[in-house]
Amino acid sequence: MGLSLIVLAAGQGTRMQSDLPKVLHPLGGVPMLAHTMASGAAMAPERVAVVCGHGAEQVREAVAEIDPEAQVVIQSEQLGTGHAVLQAAPVLEGASGDAVVLYGDTPFIRSETLEAMSEARAGGADIVVLGFMAEDPGRYGRLVTVEERLLRIVEYKDATQGERAIRMCNSGVIMADAATLMQLVGEIGNQNASGEYYLTDVVALGRARGLTAEVVLCEEAETMGINTRAELAQAEAAFQARMRAETLENGVTLTAPETVHFAQDTIIGRDATVEPYVVFGPGVTVETGAVIRAFSHLEGCHVSRGAIVGPYARLRPGAELAEDVKVGNFVEVKNAEIAEGAKVNHLSYIGDASIGRGANVGAGTITCNYDGVFKHRTEIGPRAFIGSNTMLVAPVKIGAEAMTASGSVITSDVEAGALAVARSRQVTKPGLAEKMMARLKALKAAKKG
Ligand code: UD1
Ligand code: MG
Repeated sequence: MGLSLIVLAAGQGTRMQSDLPKVLHPLGGVPMLAHTMASGAAMAPERVAVVCGHGAEQVREAVAEIDPEAQVVIQSEQLGTGHAVLQAAPVLEGASGDAVVLYGDTPFIRSETLEAMSEARAGGADIVVLGFMAEDPGRYGRLVTVEERLLRIVEYKDATQGERAIRMCNSGVIMADAATLMQLVGEIGNQNASGEYYLTDVVALGRARGLTAEVVLCEEAETMGINTRAELAQAEAAFQARMRAETLENGVTLTAPETVHFAQDTIIGRDATVEPYVVFGPGVTVETGAVIRAFSHLEGCHVSRGAIVGPYARLRPGAELAEDVKVGNFVEVKNAEIAEGAKVNHLSYIGDASIGRGANVGAGTITCNYDGVFKHRTEIGPRAFIGSNTMLVAPVKIGAEAMTASGSVITSDVEAGALAVARSRQVTKPGLAEKMMARLKALKAAKKG
């Protein structure tokens, strides 16, 4: 009795003025489609069909990343929402449970709302439609009801004056037994003002066969669809506001919440602190008690308990900071594990590296990880001390408790406990500076005179 999810994502999104398919525009750092799929995923669907049309190949790649189990079906001509759902028939073949239809460009439907729809189904309604009371009903489809019963959905274009006065609108989300839904969808015609196959017609078709239909209402904010860049910006603002509120509720200190930007999957532990102007890209986990100081940018990384990051730090994918690590200002870390208590406090690049427990990496240290073609690793042992401005030319290993002299260019391994000095020797000539200066001043005077 598994649930089937049908996500409509074939529309062109002309008003986005973009080469990127609409549903792939990022919201909270991930494609907006990922939000829709995540609300559906919370219902643990057995089958997921994503109906694609415009930019199908790009959408297919994105879907594979979001949910490798999801199946992409192609709607080559956009003949309407009913026609779109019909394309999912092969995926739903033999399904015994319910199906729910969601839109890829309507990312804020909460999983609790879908649960409420499931409950209405369990309560005996054959078809459940998610509706909302519209502030301005505009061109939404109207829900024609008598008491609790939904009689039909009428599209704005086809509605009478009287029907247009209805404020209860169709969100587009609909739930019914999968086999029944597919059967009804197969019967939809296109004799209407738009000449389209309207999914909404399943209500009247179902009722004509004696099925019952009900409305579940949600907040209008949940049904926000994205059609333009301006709406995308509004959606981003709404998403950020919600994440900030949730993060505060979870016991995280945000000193200036309105300046912090989250991704859809950001996880921050209780009693962590995030200072102003921090940006979280996708894939970040920050554990309890960690401090992310101002103006830091994090993505695809893990910050353990008690670690301190920033100000002005950049953690890129694969940065793994163990407990009590310090990564300071103007430090970039990529694909590198930094073990417990190690410090990289100033102006460094640590890429494709591992740094042992308690090691100290001096200011201006660079792991020279790239030779122009290949990437190479740097390994720094526990409690090693890397002098300021050391260039670690990878592949290279620095042993436990070894040291490098500041300004060294390290091109070969340094054994445990050794000190490596790899810089040119200093030559100091007494009095030469004074002499040079006198000569330059004399030259300048001669020029003037
Ligand atoms: C639809 C509903 C309307 C509802 C509104 C809510 C119908 C007939 N109308 O209208 O009652 O109030 O949504 O926003 O269902 N799509 C496809 N293939 C198609 C057509 C659409 O995949 O052939 C996708 C679109 O990409 C979009 C979604 O379905 O994600 C809805 O399509 P859209 O054209 O926006 O429908 P509306 O006219 O807004
Ligand atoms: Mg629409």
